Amino acid sequence: MHDVYKPRVVVLTGAGVSAESGIKTFRDNNGLWENHRIEDVATPEGFAANPDLVYQFYNDRRAQLQAPDVTPNQAHKALAELESALGEQFLLVTQNVDDLHERAGSERVLHMHGKLLSARCCNTGKTTQWLDSFDAHTECRCCFPGAQVRPDIVWFGEVPMHMDEIILALAKADVFIAVGTSGQVYPAANFVAMAADSGARTIEINLEPSQQNSLFDEKIVGKAGKVLPEFVTHFIRDYC
Ligand code: OAD
Repeated sequence: MHDVYKPRVVVLTGAGVSAESGIKTFRDNNGLWENHRIEDVATPEGFAANPDLVYQFYNDRRAQLQAPDVTPNQAHKALAELESALGEQFLLVTQNVDDLHERAGSERVLHMHGKLLSARCCNTGKTTQWLDSFDAHTECRCCFPGAQVRPDIVWFGEVPMHMDEIILALAKADVFIAVGTSGQVYPAANFVAMAADSGARTIEINLEPSQQNSLFDEKIVGKAGKVLPEFVTHFIRDYC
């Protein structure tokens, strides 16, 4: 069957999708992210107040992500399988800054909150893949003389990436699926309402009801690594 006859699907993922790969979610520890207040490590103000702490925090997260035991789980793999079945009708929007979707085989992925394995030039805004640690003295690879680089992460108060493309995809979506996100951070928390306004069928897959739970047509409660592969198998059988 030609792709155009398949439903247009937009999937939004959050930290819950990577939890079973050993990466902690943001709000599971009294509001602390790996023992830090989000205000200290995920805001421009926190970066201005204590850049060394912020560089170190993301250096630690970058190293953790590349540890041998951190690998994609069944949820990441199921989404790669759904992409293979739907082709261009599929778009994955992730709030996650890890690369586990890509490692599972996903290609049609937009990282709206940036990427851990990337550094951003403070002068030009250009990004470069960066696997090692960096700090305030590290120079970018795009300017001469080199300028300062910062983590390529969208902090609170900054504008998320790829919003034009995401809004267009939501407006055309037949199905919107949110997986492993608490629905507390905007604009992602608003995507279910936007998709529903466009007539999409909306489905939430999460360990517990999210803050946007009442807006979804269907709710599946469980661990993404277990319930998402089952959902994808049925979806492909019925629609692809
Ligand atoms: P949260 O930590 O707020 O929410 C994670 C959600 O995943 C919770 O609702 C959990 O119940 C659920 N969850 C946990 N384990 C799960 C599992 N195995 N299967 C399914 N669900 C599970 O994370 P996000 O919603 O992703 O922003 O947070 C959004 C943004 O806030 C993040 O991108 C980050 C953060 O501050 C930035 O870093 C810019």
